[in-house]
Amino acid sequence: MAKYRIAILPGDGIGKEVIEAAMIVLNRLNLDAEYFYGDIGWEFWCKEGNALPERTIKLLKETDACLFGAITSKPKEDAARELAPELQGKGLSYVSPIVKLRQLFDLYINLRPCKAYPGNPLNYRENIDLVIFRENTEGSYAGVEFYPLPDQVREALMLHPKMKDFKEVPADQIAVSTRIMTQKGCERIVRAAFEYAQKNNRKSVTLVEKPNVLRETGGLMLRVARKVAAEYPDIKFIEANVDAMCMWLVKNPQDYDVLVAENLFGDIISDLAAQLVGGLGFACAGNIGDKYAVFEPTHGSAPKYAGMYKVNPIATLLAAKMMLDWLGETGKGQVLEQAIAEVIKEGKVRTYDMGGSAKTLEVAEAVAAKL
Ligand code: NAI
Ligand code: MG
Repeated sequence: MAKYRIAILPGDGIGKEVIEAAMIVLNRLNLDAEYFYGDIGWEFWCKEGNALPERTIKLLKETDACLFGAITSKPKEDAARELAPELQGKGLSYVSPIVKLRQLFDLYINLRPCKAYPGNPLNYRENIDLVIFRENTEGSYAGVEFYPLPDQVREALMLHPKMKDFKEVPADQIAVSTRIMTQKGCERIVRAAFEYAQKNNRKSVTLVEKPNVLRETGGLMLRVARKVAAEYPDIKFIEANVDAMCMWLVKNPQDYDVLVAENLFGDIISDLAAQLVGGLGFACAGNIGDKYAVFEPTHGSAPKYAGMYKVNPIATLLAAKMMLDWLGETGKGQVLEQAIAEVIKEGKVRTYDMGGSAKTLEVAEAVAAKL
């Protein structure tokens, strides 16, 4: 039996193409693994009314880790319209598979490395090497939202004096989203960031928050972070407000090392940081829990390029590298990263976003040739 069982979920659109590229590289690495392909994405929403079928969840439960490509999702009305005729009018509603996976497997860390590989013409600056720990299960994306506003919720909110200003607004003219943060949620993401910093000889951890305005949720995060930081005296702890952080990341991205943030703030700074090092063709992520992890490029299914084999597979190759590291195969992870770095530096095989005309699989072949 193989040492690892790995679920492969290509999804749809360019998801299929970038996963094909990743498999070329993984197969060349001779990882002692068995790969199991699973269904996910738009096709299964339309045909079955579920973009993440139960059989796929079962498959994930029987594997050690997952590599995921990309899927299409559409606004509520469009999703309903594209359902198979026999499924229409049954009250089915589209749920984001990736959000569901995060909740189901308690994948509370969204890990986003952003490194400027030398020779990448898309680098905003050289020597950027950031790692972002975004909380993945709560905060502003916990999903507790109201519209129209139920009377009981309004009543409960009236416990707060500031709610007086909204007392008379009709229920259908007011929407409320919550930001729910727990001590456990804050502590485990901050601790994960510090543990990573310690293991990887990183110099600093920056908490990205807004406790001066979001006094209660931001305040909790700050208190917890200070307490955890005290356990790691050798790692510098920096406190930054999210708005200022966006400026600093553009001004002096080289000054930062490990960043940690709540879900929404982490989402925002992750995309900002990704663009500093080449954008969607380079942005990879790990959704990581204590027992399971799903690795992915952060881009979507890019429908306008689907079937053309022209998009950059490097984000997915880097996601595969993250998966190797997480599995404990750091030697192979390093070899893969080195091969990717060499191909970028040589500049001979580049997809359109890097100014070249190479095809998706040609990039994968070039990387595989260096392994
Ligand atoms: P997208 O990320 O699919 O593509 C936006 C644009 O970025 C593309 O048109 C292309 O110009 C560029 N791009 C994306 N990936 C690239 C790559 N590997 N190499 C070079 N260029 C690349 O975002 P968009 O167009 O907003 O969404 C398309 C669909 O994907 C939607 O249905 C959306 O809901 C879904 N989506 C899925 C995600 C996922 O599966 N995790 C994440 C983001 C969007
Ligand atoms: Mg995002």
